Amino acid sequence: MTDLTDKIALVTGANSGLGKATATGLAKMGATVVMICRSRERGEAAQRDIIQQAGNQNVHLLQADLSVQAEVRRVADEFKGRFNQLHLLVNNAGVTLYERQITSDGIEATMAINHLASFLLTHLLLDVLQASAPARIININTVPWRNTTVHFDDLHFEKRKFSGFAAYSETKTANLMFTFELARRLQGTGVTVNAVHPGVFKSNLGKQNRPRPFSLMLWLFNPFIATPEQAAERVIHVAASPEWAAQTGRYVGKGEKDIQPPPQCRDDDAVQQLWEVSQRMTGLA
Ligand SMILES: NC(=O)c1ccc[n+]([C@@H]2O[C@H](COP(=O)([O-])OP(=O)(O)OC[C@H]3O[C@@H](n4cnc5c(N)ncnc54)[C@H](OP(=O)(O)O)[C@@H]3O)[C@@H](O)[C@H]2O)c1
Repeated sequence: MTDLTDKIALVTGANSGLGKATATGLAKMGATVVMICRSRERGEAAQRDIIQQAGNQNVHLLQADLSVQAEVRRVADEFKGRFNQLHLLVNNAGVTLYERQITSDGIEATMAINHLASFLLTHLLLDVLQASAPARIININTVPWRNTTVHFDDLHFEKRKFSGFAAYSETKTANLMFTFELARRLQGTGVTVNAVHPGVFKSNLGKQNRPRPFSLMLWLFNPFIATPEQAAERVIHVAASPEWAAQTGRYVGKGEKDIQPPPQCRDDDAVQQLWEVSQRMTGLA
């Protein structure tokens, strides 16, 4: 097992599912783990579990609702006020929504959480990541529908009927473009950026409002679906293993095999547009 003593890792959405399993795995390897959780109560419960399971007291909690950009900015400042290094950032927090929701910033909520929160948080922490290099950024992704395209003319589903699957797929595609472009921009800085598809695993994702047929299908397949702990093994490997120290700009799944991204991710104009739109929507430009 790689020894991560003296390394600081920040994991978003660390109170449940993949985020909690990843935080636990990193804490077992000796890292100082900082969890960002939406609910202080759920965060504290998970923090106690992780400390107990990992036998590592260096597990800290920061509370923030990442759908609200002012909270992303506040939590980034809070992190920098308490820690002066960051070696690993895991942008894990994510949602699947089955009804259209608009955040207090006026943004469709799937876009706000799955893409813009990671875009903004990563940018706000880039200085400390670069000063701590070698450092790694991991964006948790999925396999979007093959031909998913980000609809730049309707990012908030104002013109189209809302579809939770489409919104999820589009926001993960946006996040893939961000991953590839950030990796390109950070070449030579000692900070790597990769996207990991953890596979399908047992999850709370969208649990509150899942359509019935989908819940039934998940229930039927439940015995064959991986646990978050199994899914986290892949993330932890990319996050911590020496073989991944210099790999960047990759999008990997099972067996560390590269996944073919939707074609839009290889369209330079679309990537540039995604970057500029994300900057504008997060107030970074
Ligand atoms: N499950 C799968 O099969 C699968 C497959 C591919 C990719 N993924 C990806 O894996 C990641 C983790 O998902 P999961 O399956 O582990 O689901 P999960 O158990 O629901 O975990 C999602 C985490 O994100 C947090 N989160 C959601 N909205 C937030 C917000 N506004 N502010 C702060 N935190 C927020 C949740 O906090 P709360 O507990 O407060 O809601 C929770 O801690 C996601 O990015 C997902 O897209 C999952």
